[in-house]
Amino acid sequence: MSDNQASLTAGGKTIDMPVNSGTIGPDVIDIRKLYAQTGMFTYDPGFTSTASCDSAITYIDGDEGVLLHRGYPIGQLAEHSSFMEVSYLLLNGELPSSGELAEFSRTITRHTMLHEQLATFYRGFRRDAHPMAIMCGVVGALSAFYHDSTDIADPTHRKISSHRLIAKMPTIAAMAYKYSVGQPFVYPDNKLSYTGNFLKMTFGVPAEEYEVVPAVEKAMDRIFTLHADHEQNASTSTVRLAGSSGANPFACIAAGIACLWGPAHGGANEAALNMLKEIGTPDKIQHYIDRAKDKNDPFRLMGFGHRVYKNYDPRATVMQTTVREVFAALNVQDPLFETALRLEEIALSDPYFAEKKLFPNVDFYSGIILSAIGFPTTMFTVLFALARTVGWVAQWNEMISDPGQKIGRPRQLYTGPTQRDYIPLSER
Ligand code: ACO
Repeated sequence: MSDNQASLTAGGKTIDMPVNSGTIGPDVIDIRKLYAQTGMFTYDPGFTSTASCDSAITYIDGDEGVLLHRGYPIGQLAEHSSFMEVSYLLLNGELPSSGELAEFSRTITRHTMLHEQLATFYRGFRRDAHPMAIMCGVVGALSAFYHDSTDIADPTHRKISSHRLIAKMPTIAAMAYKYSVGQPFVYPDNKLSYTGNFLKMTFGVPAEEYEVVPAVEKAMDRIFTLHADHEQNASTSTVRLAGSSGANPFACIAAGIACLWGPAHGGANEAALNMLKEIGTPDKIQHYIDRAKDKNDPFRLMGFGHRVYKNYDPRATVMQTTVREVFAALNVQDPLFETALRLEEIALSDPYFAEKKLFPNVDFYSGIILSAIGFPTTMFTVLFALARTVGWVAQWNEMISDPGQKIGRPRQLYTGPTQRDYIPLSER
């Protein structure tokens, strides 16, 4: 913490407020005493200038396009690490030794099965239900099955429920897919890696042996790594807010999944691929660019722009490389990739996008890879939720372990009617 102070004159009074420094990133003005001292609140809808917590997990420099997990750049983690290792890092703060990684992976593997009764939940959904609707329901229902790990004041309970959530998410996600295509659920196979197991549960069928394609497993694992955490985004803040009341972790993660579903957040990967399909061929791009620039048209380029990144999203860079690797491994081509590359090129050379600092985000290329692997668009956000669970859980744990943690309770600027007397129905 620095000795810096900020002063504010409001309502005829000048007050000093501490300015706190983190290890990197902008300082923050600590306004916690503002209301007591001035009778005023701050006003910041959308939290564009508000830090809601302190956190040692993830750092983003949006102007420079930097993303660090516990200090390690996302590019290095995507290239050299694995989703299990990054999960350990996010949860524990340091990279594991090989023994620690083996032990962590073993623990996660041992929690991959679901209570058999949960399978009946799926049968209550329509076959054409969006898999994110199923995810919200089934993940929320986990708290009805794992009572023995919901005492949030007990660190052992928190650890077990964290492991359960990370481990069961691939099983739940794969079952959502299987249900939608009318195939039998495939049970987890503990011989496989976290990601290999997920691929088998999704694409395997009991009638045949399933061979995990190493290049696909690697690409999928990297996609999970790229989505593992992203500091105080909308869904993570939702998880923290839900958790701040003392709600159990399964309920909190279900809340995060609901928030992630929106097209301005995790739903953008589905929306981005749908948009590329709608555009179709490069000759139609300009028409859509013009629509995105038109103030009277609600259309936006999906997979473009970000609240924090005002530069190329470093995850989008890795995604673009991964598209090429997956295409080469599966020997496929997708003309939509050419359309996406050309769209990026045209948008980045257009002053509208340059002035507003709108660049491709992680969702711009992810749909092309996921589609090549065989996922329907409705599953894209589910995969995001699967990977982000580790970030949500790490952030939730960090919050609950903080002795100064309080219930999250924003204030408001009230603009409704002032007090008035009730008029009986007969007199209205
Ligand atoms: N296409 C066209 N114009 C855009 C786009 C876009 N994708 N994104 C922002 N703009 C314009 C806005 O119209 C606005 O213009 P104005 O200043 O003239 O009014 C300006 O850029 C700023 O946009 P805001 O919506 O105010 O920025 P905000 O930080 O609130 O929104 C968001 C960020 C929601 C991501 C936005 O860029 C967007 O809607 N993008 C498309 C959806 C998307 O790809 N979401 C994924 C985000 S990444 C993730 O969640 C994993």
